[in-house]
Amino acid sequence: MSHAPNAVPNHVAIILDGNGRWAKKRGLERHEGHRAGALNLRDIALTAADCGVNVLSVFAFSTENWQRPKEEVDRLMALPAELDEVLWDKLEAAQISIRFSGRRDRLKPDTRDLMAELEAKTFTHTRMVLNVCLDYGSKDERLHATKSIAQAALDKKLSLETLDITTLSSALYTQGLPDVDFLIRTSGEQRLSNFLLFQSAYAELYFTRVLWPDFKPKRFKRALKVYQKRTRKFGGVKG
Ligand code: FPP
Repeated sequence: MSHAPNAVPNHVAIILDGNGRWAKKRGLERHEGHRAGALNLRDIALTAADCGVNVLSVFAFSTENWQRPKEEVDRLMALPAELDEVLWDKLEAAQISIRFSGRRDRLKPDTRDLMAELEAKTFTHTRMVLNVCLDYGSKDERLHATKSIAQAALDKKLSLETLDITTLSSALYTQGLPDVDFLIRTSGEQRLSNFLLFQSAYAELYFTRVLWPDFKPKRFKRALKVYQKRTRKFGGVKG
């Protein structure tokens, strides 16, 4: 199975890296970098939807990010509520469906409520899904999925003979979303950092040295052009 030339990737995933360095370069606090990163996320989400991308997943906060200084974590966690008019309203108005993947039990009730409200308000939007991965980690996701499958087997709601990849996929936080076609990481780091590992099994990878707040729509479109030149084989032969 090779994809049609010039196809737009169905599912793009982005590791939004480099906010801290972007702020430092400007003599700003790290939080200002995260804020600029969130505003850039809005612009890239709108661009991705314009380009015909169906799902955009972004790594907003990892299961490991709790190790950062408390002040940075607190301010990052306060960001979703601060971004109503400048981020969420714009995405809603563009008919983008917003959903969140990851653990919810460690988030503040206000954050959880806001997430549920955004998901409910935009559930029927069909232009693109913006999947915000928050307190997300692939290892944690796999553990969560394994526990729910084991429990279903113990409860005799699922037999191990019929357990397949589709069942496993639907036990993940990204249930219902297609596999990742194109994974972008900004800021020069070349690793996956526990992000959508199962879903990115055959993703094309794209690394750029540009820091996330500087990764503007033009650069995103350039990256899509690079994707379009790749040959995907999914373990088969070039067809
Ligand atoms: C990595 O940059 C970025 C993060 C850990 C946070 C990403 C979050 C946003 C862009 C905000 C999106 C927010 C919402 C609520 C949708 P870094 O801090 O590791 O940068 P550095 O490596 O240069 O220090």
